Amino acid sequence: MSGEDARRAGPSRRHFLTSAVGAAAAGVAAIQGGGAARAAEPFHGPHQGGITTPQQRHSYFAAFDLTAARREDVAALLRAWTDAAARMARGEPAQPWDGGLRLAVPDRTASGDDGYAKPDAAAMAGDSGETAGLAPARLTVTFGFGAGLFEKDGMDRYGLAAQRPAALAELPRFVGDQLVPAQTGGDLSVQACADDPQVAFHAVRQLVRIADAAAQLRWVQSGFLADAGAAQTPRNLMGFKDGTNNPPTDDAATMAQFIWAGDEGPAWMRGGSYLVARRIRIAVEHWDRMRIAFQEQTFGRTKLSGAPLGGKSEFDAPDLDASDSDGNPVIAENAHIRLAAPTANDGARILRRSYSYNDGINLTAERWPPWRHELEYDAGLLFVCYQRDPRSGFSRIFERMAKFDMLNQFVTHVGGGLFACPGGAGEGEFIGQALFAAA
Ligand code: HEM
Repeated sequence: MSGEDARRAGPSRRHFLTSAVGAAAAGVAAIQGGGAARAAEPFHGPHQGGITTPQQRHSYFAAFDLTAARREDVAALLRAWTDAAARMARGEPAQPWDGGLRLAVPDRTASGDDGYAKPDAAAMAGDSGETAGLAPARLTVTFGFGAGLFEKDGMDRYGLAAQRPAALAELPRFVGDQLVPAQTGGDLSVQACADDPQVAFHAVRQLVRIADAAAQLRWVQSGFLADAGAAQTPRNLMGFKDGTNNPPTDDAATMAQFIWAGDEGPAWMRGGSYLVARRIRIAVEHWDRMRIAFQEQTFGRTKLSGAPLGGKSEFDAPDLDASDSDGNPVIAENAHIRLAAPTANDGARILRRSYSYNDGINLTAERWPPWRHELEYDAGLLFVCYQRDPRSGFSRIFERMAKFDMLNQFVTHVGGGLFACPGGAGEGEFIGQALFAAA
């Protein structure tokens, strides 16, 4: 089956094939008892896991600020994180069960004269234990580098500034952005994805403990994806199938062209990809009061089938030139899929890998009559996309979308970040090793 045929056969079938091939090639360990939910994803390889990996059902995203003073401390952190992530992907504790070692980093509490007890490294547990006895649940941990690793407040803290890729330029401010600093940016990113929410959260929690004096959490976001079964594309919280027209991950040429960094940037980024995350709040109360026909115009797709308007089934190509008997476009000028289409954006393609979130409720107060006070959901989408270059990927597409998309009546971008995710690590290497070797 060619990549194109597989895509037309539907994403789940394609994912099944991808994982079957990947599993055979990488010798994936199927834990006793078998079944996709119990399998382990390989950690080592030319690309990091969690990018083209068939999407797991749960995600825990964390952005960190680096507090380490020296470059070797950052390298030590990445080595410790890599080792722990590889172990957890196999279903093992993050560090040997009763041997949780601190990094060899000057510790805030270890100097002896600061009033704190000196930590006894050997006495620290190597794992918190809540995944003991659980399967790896296809855990992947994907690491990314924010601009702050290379330069912060005009300072080249770690002597890495010369290695900053041009593609890691700050994203422009887009129309409508309401990014909250406490949920935006970060020097490092870690995204754990797994089919079990406890496994995903556990992975980040261990890495936070291991980071100790070298990095601290800046913002986090948990997310989930519906268990839509083998034959369906999962729906987002607006009730539409999401992910239909993603580039096919089993087509190596398409991935090389649009997703993996190549020779255009620094050598340490080859085989890596740039991650744009956006925490997008959705005004679901408002959306739920719209007619279905209006919702379908907003996306340019039929709600239940997922077919493009004017088409019959989900994987039909959208006909952006079709008009109705009155001469109006069948897919509105400001419909989401028209503004997002590669043909509208110089051929730009990104790989979307988003998760819904549901963080309780907030109080809102209107500043106009009748001054209603209401509770509204803090729910939406942690939009995550990967690309070879965000300038010709996310920014190229989102620049016009931010101005004209009908969807903007219902969504607000409140946080996120841009991270360079280096290529994968081989056995014995750590993520980003080539960066630290080059600088
Ligand atoms: C809450 C926010 C968003 C929601 C609910 C949403 C939902 C959707 C849905 C339902 C589709 C159609 C099915 C599919 O092809 O997956 C779609 C397509 C797409 N969206 Fe979004 N989206 C959101 C934000 C964004 C953002 C910020 C971008 C940034 C560039 C984006 C880029 C795309 C692209 C590239 C497509 C495929 C278009 C095509 O070629 O047909 N989306 N989105």
